[in-house]
Amino acid sequence: MNSNELRKTFLDFFEKKGHKVVPSSSLLPTDPSVLFTTAGMQQFSLYLAGKKDVISDFGSCHLASCQKCFRTDDIEEIGDDTHHTFFEMLGNWSIGQDESGYFKEGAINLALEFLESIGLERKRMHITVFGGEGDILKDDEAINIWKTKGIASIRECSKKDNFWGPVSLTGPCGPCSEIHYDRGESFGCGRDDCGPNCDYCKRYVEIWNLVFMQYFKNESGDYELLNQTNIDTGIGFERLLSIIQGNNSAYDTDLFTDVISEIKKMSLNEDERAYRIIADHIRGSVFLIEAGVIPANVGQGYILRRLIRRFIRYGNILGLKKRFWVPLVEITINKYKDIYPEINKKEIYDIIEKEEDRFSLTIDRGLKIISEVNKDLSGKEAFDIYQTYGFPIEMIKEELDKKGISINDKEFELEVKKHQEVSRIGAEKKFGGVGTGENTPSLHTATHLLHSALRKILGEDVHQMGSDINNERLRFDFSFSRKMTPEEIKEVEDLINSKIKEGLKVKKEIMSLDEAIKSGALSFFKEKYPEEVSVWTIYNEDSGEIFSKEICAGPHIDDISKLKQFKIIKEESSSSGVRRIKAII
Ligand code: ALA
Repeated sequence: MNSNELRKTFLDFFEKKGHKVVPSSSLLPTDPSVLFTTAGMQQFSLYLAGKKDVISDFGSCHLASCQKCFRTDDIEEIGDDTHHTFFEMLGNWSIGQDESGYFKEGAINLALEFLESIGLERKRMHITVFGGEGDILKDDEAINIWKTKGIASIRECSKKDNFWGPVSLTGPCGPCSEIHYDRGESFGCGRDDCGPNCDYCKRYVEIWNLVFMQYFKNESGDYELLNQTNIDTGIGFERLLSIIQGNNSAYDTDLFTDVISEIKKMSLNEDERAYRIIADHIRGSVFLIEAGVIPANVGQGYILRRLIRRFIRYGNILGLKKRFWVPLVEITINKYKDIYPEINKKEIYDIIEKEEDRFSLTIDRGLKIISEVNKDLSGKEAFDIYQTYGFPIEMIKEELDKKGISINDKEFELEVKKHQEVSRIGAEKKFGGVGTGENTPSLHTATHLLHSALRKILGEDVHQMGSDINNERLRFDFSFSRKMTPEEIKEVEDLINSKIKEGLKVKKEIMSLDEAIKSGALSFFKEKYPEEVSVWTIYNEDSGEIFSKEICAGPHIDDISKLKQFKIIKEESSSSGVRRIKAII
């Protein structure tokens, strides 16, 4: 079975079992607190949390999909048998508990039936289950079901391994059962304690994660029972494919063989790991660009820049020439364009080409600097060459080695680690891919929208009492004497999001304070204003209707559709008669 056949077999199987097949969502999630889509369930989060009605939107509480995913935590591991940046996840869901929904037993039966239908054997399946931790009880229900299924073994594991989610700080989550497939003794380490999650070998491959969503992790970090239970499952498509095709690794399956044989054909040196890194990073870059990412120094753009520069660098190691990637991108696009027609874009070539040119300038500059070095360097001095000129870290060492110049390795590694940590946190903290420096005006504009929406929903007595913005969220204090209800919070969010969708424009006018107040512009009573003030209006360009008008020094964005989505993450008391909202975009 080739990759296209396996995808189709999975989706057809679940369609026949009454599931609605839903297309993959974008690699860039709508939840602004998450950098990339990392699991099939993300597009269904609100349904799983019981906040949206799955039947009215999909016509069924049973769904299946093949989802484009991207994970950044394992970039350094790429090149081994099982890791990828971009990958696909096959999944099925049963959302909510109407009488036709299924839960643990139904999900387990479907999983076994599907795996057997493609030739996998129960006696080679080893199951890990949640063994209980803290206040969350052992999953006896799942254990008892698995015991009747003729599988090879059941192992109880901790929360770290067998409790899944949420993908963001809060969200639906639950204990999970993982199906690990035994590839046979020849893949094993031979140790007595070898089994699923073995630290010494890859004999057992985790192929399917069945999550029994029963909890919602709230902002205080507590697990509340969900009002509904759900099934959320995920198969690592590449892993299953490699097992079906009898290969050690997905890099040996039809997903990669064409591209890797082309790399081999062009290469002057042999280096299996380099072939795989190039193939993986080209595929990852193609899909990131398709999703709308462009190379940058922060957030999603930083990841793309890193992928492109890394595959070019490995190309250089193999002796490949400038633009070597062109046929490789073409092969990759051809491999996927029938499944994801949206990747067939000329832009992909243009963006990689520009990045390659920018990267060569950096390298030329870096080589020149290094040619001028004539003494041993401290780790910090060597690292500064990277920081100042962007010259790739691994090349600095290589080039200095060639000249017989040594650097303080320990110190250098320490600097590299520090830098990686800062970049990782930076990347994780990004919201909606907006760089730190650009975030602030967006949150200023969102604050005006919130002020106005609160007055429209809670009444004109609401006044701003204070506000604060940092890189991640806005905080807004306002006069109101009681806790807002969940319905009111939702109404405020919905109103703002509907205005974001309408794409209201923002304009600034300078006028005297008197004129501003006469025109109805809101002011923040604690502030002392100068005689001449800026008035910011958020309005519908076609109808002229004004949504918000406030005296404010700015800065703001010009079009609120750039905010994409607004979400209240907290509503709490600030002081007597004053409530506080924290919100993100
Ligand atoms: N959401 C689960 C996972 O990503 C199925 O593993």
